Amino acid sequence: MTDIKKIGVLTSGGDCAGLNAVVMAVVNAATIQGWEVYGIHDGTNGLTETPLSYEILTPDNYSNTPWPRLAGSYLGSLNSGIKQESREQAAIRFGEGVRKLGLDAVIVVGGDGSMNIVSNYCNIAGVKMIGIPKTIDNDTPLTEFSVGFNTACQVCTNALDDLMTTARSHHRALILEVMGRDAGHLAIHSALAGFADICLVPEIPYTLEGIIEKLKKIRESGRTSALIVVSEGVKTEKGEAVTATENLVGEKINGGIGEYLSNLINTNYDGFQTRVTKLGHVQRSGNPTAFDRSLAIILGAEAVDLLAKGHTNRMVALSHGKVSSFTLKEVVDAGTKALETYSPYIRAARAVGMYVGEVE
Ligand code: F6P
Repeated sequence: MTDIKKIGVLTSGGDCAGLNAVVMAVVNAATIQGWEVYGIHDGTNGLTETPLSYEILTPDNYSNTPWPRLAGSYLGSLNSGIKQESREQAAIRFGEGVRKLGLDAVIVVGGDGSMNIVSNYCNIAGVKMIGIPKTIDNDTPLTEFSVGFNTACQVCTNALDDLMTTARSHHRALILEVMGRDAGHLAIHSALAGFADICLVPEIPYTLEGIIEKLKKIRESGRTSALIVVSEGVKTEKGEAVTATENLVGEKINGGIGEYLSNLINTNYDGFQTRVTKLGHVQRSGNPTAFDRSLAIILGAEAVDLLAKGHTNRMVALSHGKVSSFTLKEVVDAGTKALETYSPYIRAARAVGMYVGEVE
């Protein structure tokens, strides 16, 4: 069992729908255990900056407010990289912050990057941590789904539904560029749900010839419109990045492949005019879907249960349809979860005639 009396909870990395539902679940479950909950502001910043930034959370903060139904993070989140050499210092300040507040453990709602960085802080500072996976990219390893992914898929699917009508009016092939970093989960799930004709993901090479071939087949069938989904992490046919933009700590900023493809198609094939919609940060908004809300509650409750049973340094997960957990070391060692080339989603897309690139 456990001697926990006070925990911290924070959201880290890019926000998404469902974060507030997770925090609500943590607060309610921890309160039932008789623990105090400190909500840490702006990811780890609330513990590393002076003055510390946090608030004491009770079920009243969430249960009688719209927050669990809203996207974004009530607590704020941190998505700006930290230079490697500053991380040691940040870890020390993090430990000092945890001790100053008297926290017995910290629950971190984050993606694969946050699991790596914050578990490292916790190791250095000797702090107990439980992770809860969230990301619209669905690339956190060892969990089938992360909180926020399902809602982002819905946002992209709604966009495809909207684009279909204008594509049809103007006989165009409309391109939707979606997020996902270097993983194609968001693209393929949305392409299937939005009945797209072509879906390009970073994990599978494609050819312009293959794309044009598919567009020709659509025209030959008598249809005069098409939908193309492209993941922001897709490179050129030759495997080169479309943009070389980086932030101040050297992290790559994706985007631009939609325009690149549009120009390429327009200059090589006159069967369709193309236009591009880059969906951007609306993919991180939208009221969380029923799936994301229930996943948020299941994983939030499980995180508290693990701590209550004396477990630590684990990430809760949905594995083979069951709630489960893995050590943070296993999660970090597993790295980013890529879309498998022969995943059921890719196989189904091919089976219904979608062009999803070419596997050698
Ligand atoms: O990881 C979530 C995500 O939305 C990615 O899909 C995207 O590449 C990135 O974050 C965008 O980050 P930022 O909000 O810093 O522009």
